Amino acid sequence: TDSYPGLTRDSRFSKLTPGHVAYFKQLLGQDSAVIDGINADAAADIEPFNEDWMHKYKGQCRLVLKPGSTEDVSKILRYCNENMLAVVPQGGNTGLVGGSIPVFDEIVIGMGRMNTIHSFDDVSGSLVLDAGCILEVADQHVAQQGYVFPLDLGAKGSCHVGGNVSTNAGGLRLLRYGSLHGSVLGVEAVLPDGTVMDDMCTLRKNNTGYDLKQLFIGAEGTLGIVTKLVVQCAQRSPAVNVALFGVESYQKAQTAFREAKLQLSEILSAFELMDGTSQRLVHQVRGGTRPLEGDHPFYCLVETSGSNGEHDYEKLEKFLEHVMSNEVVADGVVAQDATQIKTLWSWREGITECIGHFGGTYKYDVSIPLPDMYLIVHDVKARLSEAGLVGDTDDHPVVDVVGYGHMGDSNLHLNIAVRRYDKEVETALEPYVYEWIEKRRGSISAEHGLGLAKKNYVGYSRNETMIGLMRQIKTLFDPNGIMNPYKYI
Ligand code: FAD
Ligand code: MLT
Ligand code: ZN
Repeated sequence: TDSYPGLTRDSRFSKLTPGHVAYFKQLLGQDSAVIDGINADAAADIEPFNEDWMHKYKGQCRLVLKPGSTEDVSKILRYCNENMLAVVPQGGNTGLVGGSIPVFDEIVIGMGRMNTIHSFDDVSGSLVLDAGCILEVADQHVAQQGYVFPLDLGAKGSCHVGGNVSTNAGGLRLLRYGSLHGSVLGVEAVLPDGTVMDDMCTLRKNNTGYDLKQLFIGAEGTLGIVTKLVVQCAQRSPAVNVALFGVESYQKAQTAFREAKLQLSEILSAFELMDGTSQRLVHQVRGGTRPLEGDHPFYCLVETSGSNGEHDYEKLEKFLEHVMSNEVVADGVVAQDATQIKTLWSWREGITECIGHFGGTYKYDVSIPLPDMYLIVHDVKARLSEAGLVGDTDDHPVVDVVGYGHMGDSNLHLNIAVRRYDKEVETALEPYVYEWIEKRRGSISAEHGLGLAKKNYVGYSRNETMIGLMRQIKTLFDPNGIMNPYKYI
């Protein structure tokens, strides 16, 4: 069918037959490991695997396989490769660019059964676990030994660590713990021909030639299936403090960030930006009492993590006093206990869900040099308003234009909250947004990846030489092209 105009099913791929399904059933043994929509009507069971978190992308998959071991994955991929059956690896299906959803009838390989935590070294902090472990479960496991998983994000309750690594997720504390390119020490991955690439080094340093595991960090399931990981966890800070500021201009938010780095230095663990519109929408959808009185054009959430609660709290209060007396911030509040910390974070973490409440969201996850970072929100809002697309009533597709994100990493989330997905809105946004980013030498994908959403726009952030090299790497690993086809590469 024509769900994706411009894309046609690749006729090199075989169509699934009862014979293929019989092989997989015999291989995986138990009934629950195969959802078979070929021999029976399994549409309702398959639906969650065919639709993404935003209800934006819909696939036509009729077979879901749930391997229980690396050996299962190896046998599945070898068979698929030999029989020209295309596959899509799927973790927690919380991705925001349509990468985890089949486009046509690709087989979904769901990783949820591979969720064993194998070992944790409480001296070095290295954690060995399966790709299908849920992020929050992994973090709770290492918390028992005083450690923290070096990644945290709003979808932690359902995303998988394998999905996190495959998208190279950034999240709320990249500022503190760095990117997964640094904290993933080892990867086990199955290549499309069934070969197991065992690069499960548990040590921090390993300069033995090319660092091949890095290719899987952010590959979005296009090179193979990540089955196991070694992750370097950090010491968990016993003292966490959070403050929320109201700020009168984006210029002042930048000054506050500079001051936070100066005054909080080694204990600063997050610096997040939310615009006034995002906070109004969260309030409109969820209700409740807002943490600060009145409306501010911008809000900053500052978190510190250190080893001495009193000392850190004092530092944070002093910082707040300083920025308030210098009129850098207009108002502020410091959380008094763990419940208040959670509440303040919920005004930031709740944005993604709340802005989708009206019908849908056009999401742009971009890196822009800090001085210009918020300007894109003004420009996009002006453009959509001039086209008559923004308004309070149902005949306007756009509810509002929202900006928030990881200011500490120059990563803005430009989101257009809509009542429905609408061609006119899309045409006004693309390629306009990507051209805007290219002019400032930003990145069209800071942390969410490319998936299907940005398939046609890679050239705005990568030159022909680099795209050519990426294609060669893809062909080397996956000559038949069975891994997550129709996506960005
Ligand atoms: P999926 O959505 O299942 O898959 C994502 C991609 O990885 C797909 O291309 C898929 O084919 C591939 N893949 C999955 N597992 C494997 C595997 N084992 N081997 C090979 N390929 C695989 N992202 C951020 O970066 N920062 C955030 O702060 C953030 N916050 C979020 C908040 C919310 C509320 C939501 C819904 C999403 C958020 N995301 C964020 C996006 C998303 O959660 C992350 O990208 C996450 O890392 C995806 O993990 P997943 O297991 O759900 O992967
Ligand atoms: C976030 O930072 O909240 C996530 O990346 C999700 C989003 O962009 O909405
Ligand atoms: Zn984010």
